[in-house]
Amino acid sequence: MSRLVVISNRVAVPKARGAAGAQGGLAGALNAALKKNGGTWFGWSGQEIDEFTGNINMQRHDGVTTATIDLEQQDVDEYYNGYANSTLWPLFHYRIDLTEYEREFGRGYERVNQRFADSVAPLIEPSDMVWVHDYHLIPLGERLRAHGLKNRIGFFLHIPWPPTRLFVSLPYHERLVRTMLAYDLLGFQTTEWLESFLHYCRKELGAQVDEQTGTIDFEGRTVIARAYPIGIDFDHLSAEAATEEAKQAEQRILVSTRDRTAMLGVDRLDYTKGLPERIDGIGRFFDQYPDRVRDLVYIQIAPPSREDVESYQNIRALLEQKTGQINGARSEVDLVPIRYVNKGHSLAELCGFYRGCKIGLVTPLRDGMNLVAKEYVAAQDPADPGVLILSRFAGAAQQLEDAVLVNPHSPDDLSHAIKSALDMPLAERKARWGKLIVSVMDENVQAWTENFCRDLASQ
Ligand code: UDP
Ligand code: G6P
Repeated sequence: MSRLVVISNRVAVPKARGAAGAQGGLAGALNAALKKNGGTWFGWSGQEIDEFTGNINMQRHDGVTTATIDLEQQDVDEYYNGYANSTLWPLFHYRIDLTEYEREFGRGYERVNQRFADSVAPLIEPSDMVWVHDYHLIPLGERLRAHGLKNRIGFFLHIPWPPTRLFVSLPYHERLVRTMLAYDLLGFQTTEWLESFLHYCRKELGAQVDEQTGTIDFEGRTVIARAYPIGIDFDHLSAEAATEEAKQAEQRILVSTRDRTAMLGVDRLDYTKGLPERIDGIGRFFDQYPDRVRDLVYIQIAPPSREDVESYQNIRALLEQKTGQINGARSEVDLVPIRYVNKGHSLAELCGFYRGCKIGLVTPLRDGMNLVAKEYVAAQDPADPGVLILSRFAGAAQQLEDAVLVNPHSPDDLSHAIKSALDMPLAERKARWGKLIVSVMDENVQAWTENFCRDLASQ
């Protein structure tokens, strides 16, 4: 079998920026994929240096070889904070109001993609299979082809693909999509994002698109595009959930919440996660059912993320304000309705928290997939499972249809869902969870890797 070379902006090396819990779903998933199959993982170290050198730092952790480069400050500003996280991230999550279209950001994005290509190309053997990840590196495949690489090269987008009407607001949108046709295989999280992409190719590029097979023919090239919903590393999570650390974390919840029901949210502090809207929904629940304030404690774990980007600073301030308002209005000497925790936690601790909280609240306004929803299901006690409340706008909702699905924009809908989760009889909780767990177990990260790599190998 060919060796796998995975390339992503973020690499899960211990010293990387954000390693304390805000690394997000991509790093965990790729770590799992590579541990099983071996291979090399190339990306940014998370470190800034004065001047770009292209020096590669190779390390081995748990059987995975990581190869990382440092970037200079201008790269981080224009490529990471700029084009990736102030242009593509908001636009792809339908937040055109937050999208910034700065020329320098685009130039920085091009420059860093070129730097990635120049640095990684010498590490790639002719028989290797190359798998590029996420919105930071969309044009990388084309840059690698310019280095003469004839390898099979695939690309997976971890975030949504926006509707054509929004996407065309991006200057040079056509150029960006044309670069994607240098790949052999394109992967999306759900059929919804896949359909949006194919629609663009047909309408705007004038490509020949076969929607059934996902085949795109354009200017003599054929590319396949398919949906591969990402999953969790179920076996690894189960092992973490059985640790002493997890048990102690569960106890911390149970002891500190006593006879109240604990409801949990775990999200990077990101405006796509619907956090202020969620707090509004909880506030509405307390307004509508004031006698239930004593029944419920909401625990929000929100490690800060992308802190140099203004929209992230704003969301943090807004969340603090909204949480403070509800706690100010509803607290008693022996009761604080919302616990807001601004730091990250290990997977083992999260497993304990997931199990100790009888309601999991996952309400992004838009999310490529959302692995927290799947982790919550996986960590439940089969004899007494908690209830997952899930936004219908998360990619995960396409698989987890037996969750309580909500519209995260509607405080009334959220309030109603919280009420029904609090009062849900054990038989219904078991019936719902019994269906959810099958999909979480079967459609796991190993299946995701195998499906994508099998299709890439056969292109
Ligand atoms: N996570 C973590 N510690 C935390 C908060 C989150 O390890 O304190 C992990 C969580 O277990 C999950 C990932 O971060 O695997 C978040 O992935 P998700 O797909 O839900 O969202 P993303 O952050 O990638 O947008
Ligand atoms: C999302 C993105 C990933 C990213 C992660 C954490 O999951 O799809 O590409 O790595 O968020 O964000 P960060 O900017 O800290 O890498």
